[in-house]
Amino acid sequence: MEKILEHTVLTIREAGKIIMNYYQSEFEVKQKGVGNPVTQADIETDTFLKNTLTEAFPNYGWLSEETKDSPARLGKNRVWVVDPLDGTKEFVEGIPNFSISIGLVENGKPIMGVILNPVKNDLYTAVKNMGMKFNGKKTIICQNQNLNEINILNSRSETKRGLWKLYQGKFKELIPIGSIALKLAMVSANQADFIGSLQPKNEWDICAGHCMINESGGELLTTLGNEITYNNPNTLITPGLVAGNKIAVSNFLNIL
Ligand code: IPD
Ligand code: CA
Ligand code: CA
Repeated sequence: MEKILEHTVLTIREAGKIIMNYYQSEFEVKQKGVGNPVTQADIETDTFLKNTLTEAFPNYGWLSEETKDSPARLGKNRVWVVDPLDGTKEFVEGIPNFSISIGLVENGKPIMGVILNPVKNDLYTAVKNMGMKFNGKKTIICQNQNLNEINILNSRSETKRGLWKLYQGKFKELIPIGSIALKLAMVSANQADFIGSLQPKNEWDICAGHCMINESGGELLTTLGNEITYNNPNTLITPGLVAGNKIAVSNFLNIL
């Protein structure tokens, strides 16, 4: 696994350079749906990642937000699950909360996660049974189980839409930032306490971060308390998700 991680880290750093060539400059933005932009940076990064990783690991399958899906991945033991640019809205607005997220799955379970915030050059990595690292240093998840003392990272659009009003006063503070992948990475690195999301996510948004949460000693579940698996025919994970230390997750699910 160490060689695979090494290759993936070199690859994600190159992908970060592609994105930073576009950041805060002129680029084309198209709308895939309401509130779902895609840019030249998303597409170019996707092409680079797909070519580089599938050439180096020809037996692995491929699932990415910006690549037309193929059922070929369903027959593979190991599959890359990638979001070339998570937090495109923030990227377009010039806000530095976006990331590249590369997950590797074996038989439906995440075995490696690599996430880069290219603005800060912050690198988050995790390998199954080998721990979670932030910029090369091991980290463990926040151990506080008392929700009143815990800050929750959540989505900017969920706050804007008032979805969290019901839970006001249940936690210390809600901190809305972009990119669910970056939020999972930050919580795994103990740069924040906990994550709650009240909207569905796709496998590519959370696969790498899921490996990180596991390896930092935490837990990621749906808001119904269900386990999450990957490389499914339907890649949407519903209805929402929570991640943090196991007791805090259980306390949060009781409130919901
Ligand atoms: C979005 C991000 C965001 C999440 C949205 C996704 P994109 O992905 O993951 O954190 O809240 O649901 O659509 O479009 O920026 O890759
Ligand atoms: Ca995404
Ligand atoms: Ca994306």
